[in-house]
Amino acid sequence: MNILGIETSTDETGVAVITDKREVLSHLVLSQIDTHQVFGGVVPEIAARAHLDHLDILIKQAMTEAKLDFSDLDGVAATCGPGLIGGVMVGMMAGKAIALAHNKPFIAVNHLEAHALTPRLVEDIPFPYLVLLVSGGHTQILVAEDIGHYHLWASTRDDAIGECFDKSAKMMGLPYPGGPHMEKLASLCPDIEKAKQDFPFSIPMKGSKEIEFSFSGLKTAMRQSLEKHTHTKESLAELAASFQSTLAETLSYRATQAMQKFQDLYPQKQNPALIVCGGVSANKTIRTSLEQSCVKNGFSLMAPPLEYCTDNGAMIAWAGVELLQAGRISSLSFKARPRWPLEELKDFAI
Ligand code: KG4
Ligand code: ZN
Repeated sequence: MNILGIETSTDETGVAVITDKREVLSHLVLSQIDTHQVFGGVVPEIAARAHLDHLDILIKQAMTEAKLDFSDLDGVAATCGPGLIGGVMVGMMAGKAIALAHNKPFIAVNHLEAHALTPRLVEDIPFPYLVLLVSGGHTQILVAEDIGHYHLWASTRDDAIGECFDKSAKMMGLPYPGGPHMEKLASLCPDIEKAKQDFPFSIPMKGSKEIEFSFSGLKTAMRQSLEKHTHTKESLAELAASFQSTLAETLSYRATQAMQKFQDLYPQKQNPALIVCGGVSANKTIRTSLEQSCVKNGFSLMAPPLEYCTDNGAMIAWAGVELLQAGRISSLSFKARPRWPLEELKDFAI
């Protein structure tokens, strides 16, 4: 089975061709980072136009690299939400046009589900499993019961963790997107314990039994810390390291609560797994901290390879494989959805 996947929900134009045997025949990502950097964030209208400018060329290249014609495809998958609606529509309409012209099934992919399924592109992870989705727009803990069946256990009251990284990094004068730049700066800090003493941050809502996130307080704490001190390059590295470490601890703290809840609800489950996905899961400090929490709680941590963490076409193509196998084909009248909570997928009518 050959599936073409198209991703255009934020600032990455991603196209890939994948088989149901987990072979990645082509996988191209064109980042618009340089275009948006001058504005310090993604400008939706510019993003949509950039997808429009490049998508057809990228699709052609992905098909050439995969050595396939459109007639060799078994389906066309495109992100149909959630995301910036102009960009989503560009990718969705391109996918629908190819499906219509070549009489192939069209698969409307929920971007969040694609993130949650990505680790299965690499290895067979049986349902149910716990998902920690950490991206620019979302911070969620979910249980993946099956394709299309997710229970939301935790989300954020305010900012997403990626947004917290990006906005705080911007205050520190770092380029967009801030997450990877903050990680790079933090890596220059020679002594994390000293950094945490010099620039303390605390885990939001620590002690609360609710599994819930909130990141706007940490962003404010970062602003106050920047205003209070006159910084050198060294002290900024310490500040970044302490901040990043608190974000990692926050995720581990809430993931631990979720792992304990999962064990209470699924006591029979052998070798339970926690999947971490979304752009922020590229962060090594976060991965290490989650790894340690998983070991303590008898879970395996599964994280997609770094190239599949941030938005890309391979994750959409793989979701397309799984959805097609589950019979979840969409009609060509499917409407793009700026908001599309994962829990609504269970209402899918086959
Ligand atoms: O999943 P993604 O590519 O797009 C969304 O669906 O949002 O995630 C993008 C987010 C951005 O906020 C970016 O700063 C963050 O992921 N990110 C990172 C790292 N790489 C990307 N955050 C922290 N450390 C990183 N290494
Ligand atoms: Zn994403």
